[in-house]
Amino acid sequence: MTYKILITDDLSPQSLIKLEEMDDVTFDVVRGLTPEALAKQIPEYDALIVYSTVTVTEAVFAAANKLKVVGRAGVGIDNIDIKAASMRGVIVMNTPGANTIATTEHTMALMLAMCRHLPQAHTSMKTGEWNRKVFVGRQLYRKTIGIVGMGRIGTRVARRCQAFGMEVIAYDPYLSDDVAHKLKIKPVDLNDLLSQADFISLHAAHTEQTANLINRENIAKMKDGVRIVNAARGGLIDTDALVEALKSGKIAGAALDVFIEEPLAKDSPLLELDNVILTPHLAASTIEAQRDVGTQVVDQVLDALRGKDFRNALNMPIGDVDVLKTLQPYLSVAEKVGSLHAQLADAAINRIEIEIKGREVRDHIKPITVAILKGLLSPVLVETINYINAPLLARKRGIAVSETQGLPTIEYPNIISCRVAWDGGEQTMAVTLFNEDEPRLVQMDKYRLDVRPDGVMLVIGGIDIPGFIGHVGTLLGKHNINIAAFRNGRDKPLGNTLSFLRVDADVPDSVMDALRSLDSVVWVKKVILD
Ligand code: MLT
Repeated sequence: MTYKILITDDLSPQSLIKLEEMDDVTFDVVRGLTPEALAKQIPEYDALIVYSTVTVTEAVFAAANKLKVVGRAGVGIDNIDIKAASMRGVIVMNTPGANTIATTEHTMALMLAMCRHLPQAHTSMKTGEWNRKVFVGRQLYRKTIGIVGMGRIGTRVARRCQAFGMEVIAYDPYLSDDVAHKLKIKPVDLNDLLSQADFISLHAAHTEQTANLINRENIAKMKDGVRIVNAARGGLIDTDALVEALKSGKIAGAALDVFIEEPLAKDSPLLELDNVILTPHLAASTIEAQRDVGTQVVDQVLDALRGKDFRNALNMPIGDVDVLKTLQPYLSVAEKVGSLHAQLADAAINRIEIEIKGREVRDHIKPITVAILKGLLSPVLVETINYINAPLLARKRGIAVSETQGLPTIEYPNIISCRVAWDGGEQTMAVTLFNEDEPRLVQMDKYRLDVRPDGVMLVIGGIDIPGFIGHVGTLLGKHNINIAAFRNGRDKPLGNTLSFLRVDADVPDSVMDALRSLDSVVWVKKVILD
């Protein structure tokens, strides 16, 4: 099989050489694509590699019939419509780590250049001036820096600031006290950071929660004369509010590498201000970072296309292929229980509760839940359901999914129990593996079972009277339908029964009706499992 990859920017020469050496890959580099042009090109490609300059919209994904992977050479994924990718079952991955040092060093460069007016002094000298008085700077030593976002880059900026003798305070809702202690930084809430910092450096992703984080209200809480560095994303700052504060002197200086719109508009008020220094989204642009980002994205995309590994996938429940392999039989039986539920429910399912017990499965609730959803949605939706789009599609259909405890199911060393509900009814099933990889349905509602969920199956709710199995067997035999397996559960002798019959051929509607007319049969349904 040959994979076709579209690359929309200049990848490093090393990564292109790597691609050229592959027998199972062809690739095209097409620069400067608009989303419309990309949508036209994309149908023939299996994978797409982009930097931040190309926007991968919903329309691009809608046109992408063959696309399996989008590799983002870099970290920020705000140029990719992840939701649309997930809906189409396309994996999106980025390359965290590869440009961390470059961005960290650029942040320090911006901070120092801002404090010592390096760009202004340089420009002045180029015009023949020798002006020592105008460019008197400020030191970093003994100043407090407030870092917003203590991920890879924020953490490294903190260390370098400590080396300059700065006190580091940080706001990050996910930062544990333990890690903060190890890093020798003080975790604070956002208001404290704003009111205590002499410098503020932004290292957060641009999300709905962080958009316009530096706005008028938050600027008012800052120290007078604060200085701001942004090498993360332009959308973190309300530009109008920043310009106002830079003009009034509330903010003494800003060093910006990123902007809401890139390239920055030629009439941007930021270009008019002397207390701002600007670079054109250069933080990750070092030879080393570009080399590493390029080779990393190529390796990741190739591994994903070949099904070897999905590391750094942002919209997959499981990225480690070894865990995936070990868990595969459980994922498979989880899919089956989802499918059984969908096919046996009396109406559209609107609630799912999942309980997972046992050493082999308990740490994997997320992928197992996704597998159940995949199985549950596949019989009812015409779209292709996979591990990427299943949670989104379930949410779209208003299905509430939750983890629960204490479902009334039997004990097995490793067991996946699942109760689903619809308007007016509910049903509970439990599945496990026998002999490590043989899927078994071991319970449905009050009935204990031992059913291999596979192929065409008849599920019969009946009455436990003498001759029941014989009546069903005779009727199917009369229609030349061979029974491969017959498993029966009952609540008590001569009470109610639940039977699962695996049959070797499809069962026509006329035979289903004939089964329903048997005295001992209360209801019968046909399910088909892969
Ligand atoms: C990143 O998100 O990796 C950097 O901002 C560099 C880039 O966008 O190209």
